[in-house]
Amino acid sequence: MNNLFSRNKINIDTEMHCHILPAVGCDPEFTNQALDVLAIFQSYGVNTVYATPHVRLARPSNTHESILKRAEIFKKQIAENKIKIKLEVVAEYYVDEGLSSLIDNENLLTYPQSHVLIELPMRVKPAGLDDIIKKLCAKAYKPIIAHPELHHYLRYDWKMIADLKSQGCLFQINLINMAGYFGDDVIVAAENLLRSKTYDLVGTGAHSRAQLQLIDKQILQKKDYVKLLRNANFKNKIFSQKDN
Ligand SMILES: [Fe+2]
Repeated sequence: MNNLFSRNKINIDTEMHCHILPAVGCDPEFTNQALDVLAIFQSYGVNTVYATPHVRLARPSNTHESILKRAEIFKKQIAENKIKIKLEVVAEYYVDEGLSSLIDNENLLTYPQSHVLIELPMRVKPAGLDDIIKKLCAKAYKPIIAHPELHHYLRYDWKMIADLKSQGCLFQINLINMAGYFGDDVIVAAENLLRSKTYDLVGTGAHSRAQLQLIDKQILQKKDYVKLLRNANFKNKIFSQKDN
């Protein structure tokens, strides 16, 4: 596999969005797959990987407690397998009433400097979005809008994007979306958002080796994509834990 993240490609040493945290008591095969993904990231020269399990009312088994418990187990397995990646665990928070109460309690799993990953519905703007963003900012959280390329009501609404940016939101692309995982309309949206310099951060959004291979094939072999991604000057380095 080529080295997607190497310095001569898009200069990324921190993967900030992926779904590789095995559930407690899950099939050992899944744990092996998750370790395999981390080994690939290591081969890319990545030093820090943030796993971003979903937290949403519709998925009640993913509580902070269960996530942190499984993270402890997974970190031990990473060490046992001599993988030299610093694993961090945050959450990808869906905008729902559960998030509202977590913000009230100032109880979010965040990146450094209180950056927090937020996921919006794909097709319809949630009625409470403006309130949630205001509430987050009032508590000094810094929202990161995950994969806007997927969101029909957002990806071509330049005013809404500008409004969210003016409130302090950052935007993050998932490369798996640009690799065609969700169709051509998503690819075109991602290209437009890249050209308009909307994105601040990049993650893979990957769940598996196969998805990393797809990203590799569909993006790395296209010089125009590599150029677009390099020109984005992603800020992932602010989350690197290399020296800690
Ligand atoms: Fe995700």
